Parts: sequence; structure tokens; C-alpha cells
Amino acid sequence: MTPKIQIPKAEIHCHLEGSIPPVLARELAERNGLSLPAKLFDAKGHYAWKDFLSFLDSYDRVCTVLKTPRDFGDVIYSYLASAARDGAVYVEMFCSPERPAALGISYTAWLAALTDGIDRAGREFGIVGRIIIICIRHLGPDRAFAMAKAMVAEPHPYVVGFGMGGDEARFSPIDFAPAYRLVHEKGYGCTVHAGEVVGPESVWAAIRDLPVTRIGHGVRSAEDPALMEELARRGIVLEVCPGSNVALGLYADREAHPLHRLIDAGVPVTLNSDDPPFFHTTLGTEYDMAGLSEKELRRIARRTIEASFLDADTKRRLLEKVTP
Ligand code: HPA
Ligand code: ZN
Repeated sequence: MTPKIQIPKAEIHCHLEGSIPPVLARELAERNGLSLPAKLFDAKGHYAWKDFLSFLDSYDRVCTVLKTPRDFGDVIYSYLASAARDGAVYVEMFCSPERPAALGISYTAWLAALTDGIDRAGREFGIVGRIIIICIRHLGPDRAFAMAKAMVAEPHPYVVGFGMGGDEARFSPIDFAPAYRLVHEKGYGCTVHAGEVVGPESVWAAIRDLPVTRIGHGVRSAEDPALMEELARRGIVLEVCPGSNVALGLYADREAHPLHRLIDAGVPVTLNSDDPPFFHTTLGTEYDMAGLSEKELRRIARRTIEASFLDADTKRRLLEKVTP
């Protein structure tokens, strides 16, 4: 569906595997001679899950349709194409090396396939894509550190940052400080999911113990005025994904979502789609449903590019595109 709000947009919080629409999951399964995992879809043909942990399980089941480097390239191409149709000029995608590693695909081959997908989308739609390497919190600090080591050992021009998703209730940010320190010292931007299913204390710990300039979600910060003040003072940007938060039941509906309260408190926010087909949203829908003026939405698009982990030249070029 064409978004109502036709301004240039950008996105810095979207998960590669979480962007696979059911129709592409079916195509990939067929191409790879796989039967689709049991219980993948509900009666309406949507991904089936009921709460945060069953969402993470459902996400893992979708990942099983990916088998070859080409599959990963096609997924990022397909997402960038649809984001471009929504008006996106830039997408920073969370990509986890865990799945390709489990399939025996080398880090180099996986990145080459993602690069091919990004370049194809760039040629066809003019969109710029970059990669954030993301570790999975519930797999523990050792796996995260190994991932950070692999990432810095093999720099790639499209890999611009490091992040962490997964079950926020497990471990503490400080357990992952060695991994974050390693990538930060090499100049990579850092972000972490926090303040989504766990409250403000999770965000406090993240900004105290990790070298992050952004927080994935962070919406539960709205429960703590001192924390909102701290985020505003330090200019820490929240990667807000209202559709995801409502779908996961953090808030009853978009009216109850704290997006506007965060903005009113001076917290720098961006708008993102997270895992769009899981949460029945798109980047365009997030802009359309935010209940914000076009002026504020343009400010958000601009902030998204500024908070991205892009190199200065590309940032400047894209800022020109989002500035009227
Ligand atoms: N939260 C945590 N981990 C995730 C998410 C999320 O919203 N999406 C994919 N992995
Ligand atoms: Zn996320």
C-alpha cells in the first residue's frame, strides 16, 4: 500500500530475517526444497506467535527457510525494494551472522551476498543500505564476543555498526561490555535493544555500561522522567518502533504508546518498523500512524540519517535528500 505521507524517510531498526514476508518465506522454502516449518502461520496466513518469547521462536522458525548465500541477498534486496517504495532513502539493517554460520556459510560469503542485494537495490531504486552486525543476547556474552572479534577481523565497507537483540531479560549489559568495547575501539557505531520488555533500569544499565549512542526501542524510558532527561541531555537516540510495541502488547494501542511523551520530554526519537510482516506494519505505516505533523516527521527522517552509523560523506549526501 502506498503511504499517505510521501516524504523521504530513513530507517535504522529493522531485522533482516524479521523482514521476510510470508510470500517470500514460501518462495524460499520451495526454492530450497523444504517444507515450511510446522505452526509457522496462523489461520489467516500470518506468522503465528502470541507473546515476546513465542515471537522469538516464530522468528527462528522463519530463519529455517534460509539456506544459501543467495537467499540472504534476496531477502535484503526484497526489503530494500519495499522500503524504497515507502519512500526510504536509507535503511540500516540488523544482520545476524548466527544463521549463516550454522549453515556453514562463511562470514565473507554471507557479506558478499548481502552486498550484492544492497547494490542491486541501490541500482534499481536509488536506496542506500548498510549492515549492523547483531548478536543475540540470550545466546550469551561468549558468542557475542566471538562475533565482535570476527567482525573487526574482517572489515567491510557496508558493515557500519554493532548491536544486540534477543531476550532482554537474560544477562546484563555489562556482560557484553568486552564485545562492545572491542568494536567501539575500532570506530563502529553501537546500539542495543533495551527498555522494550524490561523497564527503565535496563536502559540505565545500557547507557552506563555500553558505548552506545542509540537504544533499540527504549520506550519504557517514558516511565522514568530522570531517564528521559538523561537521554535528552546526552542526545541518545531511541529507535522507536510503535507498531512492534503495540503488536507485542507493551501498549494497548497507538494512543497509549509513549512516542509523543518522549518527544515532549526532548528525547531524540526515530521511527522504525522492526520486524514488519510479524507486526503487520511497514516504515510508511509508522510514519502515517505516528500522529505527528509533516514538519516533525521530516525532522525525524533527518535525525535518523544523523544518528545512522554512515560515513560522513554519504551522510551529507543523504541529508540533502531528506531536507526540503
Ligand atoms: N526485540 C528483541 N529481539 C528481537 C526483536 C525485538 O523487537 N526483533 C528481532 N529480534
Ligand atoms: Zn528489534
